[in-house]
Amino acid sequence: LSSTEVDLSQIQEGQIVTVKWRGKPVFVWNRTAKDIEEGKATQISALLDPLARNANLPADAPATDENRAAKDQEKWLVVIGICTHLGCVPIGHMGEYDGFFCPCHGSEYDSAGRVRRGPAPENLAVPPYAFVSDTKISIG
Ligand code: FES
Repeated sequence: LSSTEVDLSQIQEGQIVTVKWRGKPVFVWNRTAKDIEEGKATQISALLDPLARNANLPADAPATDENRAAKDQEKWLVVIGICTHLGCVPIGHMGEYDGFFCPCHGSEYDSAGRVRRGPAPENLAVPPYAFVSDTKISIG
């Protein structure tokens, strides 16, 4: 199967669930208002990687919180759970930026999955996905 369906109604506010898509871990995060606020308050100029890296958007889209989160449902963040440095799986709700921490070499990502501390060079990739209902997404 090339696509993966995820039932969002089972994911509590604040919770990050890991699903598998084409053998890769994908994090699905039901972000809190605070997570979203932090994501929006961060200026592009403060980011190590200014690009959204969102497969659903043009390649040159900037890494705003809006461009990283689900379209019209900003509480949902869906990202491939593979560190853009050397491919370890980062840990959610860890690190200084309230996002993900990579235990391999210490990269940190924020509440929009954007890299904030290297050595990782890029934001966590947003896979292609779409809402098939209000509470269900299909990845791939
Ligand atoms: Fe994540 Fe190196 S693989 S920091």
